[in-house]
Amino acid sequence: MTDTPVDSSPLAYPFERPSALEPCPHYKRLRETNPVADITMPSGSDALLVTDYDSVRTVLSDARFSRAATARPGAPRIGTEPQNAKNLLSMDPPEHTRVRRLVSREFTARRVEALRPRIQILTDELLDAMEQQGSPTDIVPALAFPLPVTVICELLGVPLGEREQIAEWSGTVLSTVSLPVEKIVEAHVGLSTYLGGLIAAKREQPGDDLLSALVSINEADAERLDEEELLHLAITLLIAGHETTTNQIANGVLALLTNPDQFEAVLSYPGALPTAVEELLRFVPPGDEATLRITTEDVKLGDTLVPAGTAVLASLASANRDSGHFTRPDTLDVSRTGDAQHLTFGIGIHYCLGAGLARLELEIVIGSLLRRFPTLRLAVPADQIPRSSGRLIHGVTSLPVAW
Ligand code: HEM
Repeated sequence: MTDTPVDSSPLAYPFERPSALEPCPHYKRLRETNPVADITMPSGSDALLVTDYDSVRTVLSDARFSRAATARPGAPRIGTEPQNAKNLLSMDPPEHTRVRRLVSREFTARRVEALRPRIQILTDELLDAMEQQGSPTDIVPALAFPLPVTVICELLGVPLGEREQIAEWSGTVLSTVSLPVEKIVEAHVGLSTYLGGLIAAKREQPGDDLLSALVSINEADAERLDEEELLHLAITLLIAGHETTTNQIANGVLALLTNPDQFEAVLSYPGALPTAVEELLRFVPPGDEATLRITTEDVKLGDTLVPAGTAVLASLASANRDSGHFTRPDTLDVSRTGDAQHLTFGIGIHYCLGAGLARLELEIVIGSLLRRFPTLRLAVPADQIPRSSGRLIHGVTSLPVAW
């Protein structure tokens, strides 16, 4: 299948990382020697893992790599949990085009920008509470977790009282390899039942929130979202809308605290914050891999011929460290310019719908945190920072800081 040297037996995926900040060393080796490698996924299915920038771009943006094929009965899977074809992320065109257009009509850049003052207020409140509690504080529960979950719940019109329960379901759904399949299915049922009830309530009494807007699309005559599409959209937005951002905040702060010159640079030039946020997204993304795709025909990836029907995973985190596209890729440089665009939000038709919201949250949270606590430092040695494992999305689970 390939004319590049290959590992003799498939590597077991996902890889464990040596520490919270270091990427798994397999990626560098694979990029250099075997950028389209055989792996075995936790479900036992075989797949190819793609690690170089150009091939990752191709897998994410070339229509011959299908998402819909991953939701068909008997398709290879990452974990054991079933995929749902009515999920935006599991659709190919033309279904994807229709649903994405409908949700983009409501989830606009304007709606996101309108959240700026509210996100600033919520952040300031959390920082006030941190200050009152005093140094040291764990900023995962104090800031990185509550901010994104509050923002996505307010945006969708989900009552805040449900926040802890939603976070628990969401964490279970994303666990992939660390929990039994029954637990994951149970969490899916919990989320679906809850959101189904909320959708019914919004239909009765619409609010000024995104979920009510999506419900009204569901009721319109032309080009409507069907009932299942609406439910899965709500689930995807709720899950995608907080877990990734929580981890990105924690990873980003940890990266700055362990690179004090970069911390100083962000503090000294607040205008450069958007560039710094992009670099943190490149350097410490909240997950290694984009979702699974399956080839619908034979495709050449570099020197490798990938036959039709092959399961392929594209590593975003690895692509972001490709020295062919980034100068000194293993160095955090918050003033980095002129390199390729990082792939942390994906690329192509499934490009992250919430990228604008995530960027806004990161900018406000990181900027406000550094301004409020310019002497911020780690309260424990960096190698003692715990991180989650057995999950597709990962970040540090606790980040004690002092000031
Ligand atoms: C740092 C935070 C985030 C990261 C790193 C991230 C990353 C990603 C990536 C890589 C994809 C594409 C997956 C693929 O092509 O296989 C994606 C898709 C998606 N993301 Fe995000 N995301 C983040 C935050 C958010 C937020 C805040 C929301 C919602 C409010 C969101 C909603 C979505 C949705 C709905 C999709 C599916 C889009 C489609 O299939 O057309 N994400 N995200």
